[in-house]
Amino acid sequence: MECRNLVGGSWISPESGATFDVRDPATGELIARVPRGGAAEAHRCVDAAEQALPEWSARSPAMRAGFLDQVSSALRRARTELAALITRESGKPLAESAAEVDYSADYFDSAAAEARNLVEVRLPVRGGGTLKRAIPEPVGVVAAITPWNFPLAMIARKTAPALAAGCTQVVKPAEATPLTALTLAQLATDAGLPPGVLNVITGDPPSIARAWLGDGRVRKLSFTGSTRVGKELMRLAADQVVRLSLELGGQAPLIVFGDADLDAAVAAAIAGKFRVAGQTCICPNRFLVAREVHAEFTDRLVRAATRLPVGPGTLAGVRIGPLINDEAVTKVRRHVADAIDRGGVLRCGGGTVPVDGCLDRFFAPTVIDSATPEMLCFKEETFGPVAPIAGFDSIDDAVTLANATEFGLAAYIFTRDLACAERVGAKLRSGIVGVNTCAVSDAYAPFGGCQWSGFGREGGRWGLEEYLAWKYVCATSS
Ligand code: SIN
Repeated sequence: MECRNLVGGSWISPESGATFDVRDPATGELIARVPRGGAAEAHRCVDAAEQALPEWSARSPAMRAGFLDQVSSALRRARTELAALITRESGKPLAESAAEVDYSADYFDSAAAEARNLVEVRLPVRGGGTLKRAIPEPVGVVAAITPWNFPLAMIARKTAPALAAGCTQVVKPAEATPLTALTLAQLATDAGLPPGVLNVITGDPPSIARAWLGDGRVRKLSFTGSTRVGKELMRLAADQVVRLSLELGGQAPLIVFGDADLDAAVAAAIAGKFRVAGQTCICPNRFLVAREVHAEFTDRLVRAATRLPVGPGTLAGVRIGPLINDEAVTKVRRHVADAIDRGGVLRCGGGTVPVDGCLDRFFAPTVIDSATPEMLCFKEETFGPVAPIAGFDSIDDAVTLANATEFGLAAYIFTRDLACAERVGAKLRSGIVGVNTCAVSDAYAPFGGCQWSGFGREGGRWGLEEYLAWKYVCATSS
């Protein structure tokens, strides 16, 4: 496997020779050492992307789409190997990793389809002799900084539309999961991507981000990660007026109304809450349950959560893998302790479980009843397998509780009354609403949030739009 960085079509290491370790989050075993790049490598990357831009952006969208088709096919062919690598780096169960490969390939398919539809627009002419056109141009050199929880999909959803639009790109993957990103870069290179169109460097996040945002040639940054870092990037982007897309933290409410199909609601809640062991931005973090079904829903959720097999992601049937590192375990413990201190009732889980030959990072699926808005788990993203539950008495109560957050990425509603779901959905401050489902991820749909969850959309035509700058040309004959 290639562990060096891809810059301008060459695999390189920083002149300093500095590296950092990539370790299996389940066992702590060393997987690889990868280059610790900094500002110098970041600027070199931009040089390469800048050089490749004229030729790549001059290709027709259909030609660029053809290339994206090849990357999609390459990802699907390498599904098994990629899934194994994703699990090795991120710890998530193999079945989830395989689903992530499909999801990533879908982003390439979706961007290719959008590229094929990309045409200039002739505007209505009022008065003779005037030609008015809106021409889609690429933004230019763009940057992506991606997280570890979906090491392939979060790059795919940024790289595919960027390349479809005619941009060239520089990417920095998370330190925990650089190997999946470098493998994607290798597959793209093997598929014939011209040098410099996609560049991937690993290394020190603040130095690389500062270098890119201060460079002047990087015209856009797409970032998925924490709200704290997103705010810092906004400040840094101001100097060079760099366009941003930010997919930041979430604090998704999951509302269960009294008429909901409880079996279906529990199954969906389990799938949504415990995907990647609760380490996703869109997972339900605050369970709001109508008083009349509160006890029944909670009992059923506890029974289902307790049955989820915990263990290394490589083991068949495992549903809950390790948390990504010790800091993550500490944070989840802090949220659970805080909830219990404030009167929460621990119904199951509450701490780590020992797993043979592994580190102490396997947090048992946890359900806490009698949660309140004052608890940390209701205020901050826990990023772990914890489901805090609070009851509500009326629809208005449910909406008020759901909106009592600065975040606004995803929200879920469970009810048989679709008109009620429509009304409630319209009142929720959230970029994404799932009705009777938590499976909202779709490469053809607009994914993104509002408020402290960020702005910009990824997926489908909305994802492509983020990488376009429309030029308006108004011409008269003389
Ligand atoms: C996330 O929650 O971090 C991304 C989830 C997704 O795209 O499914």
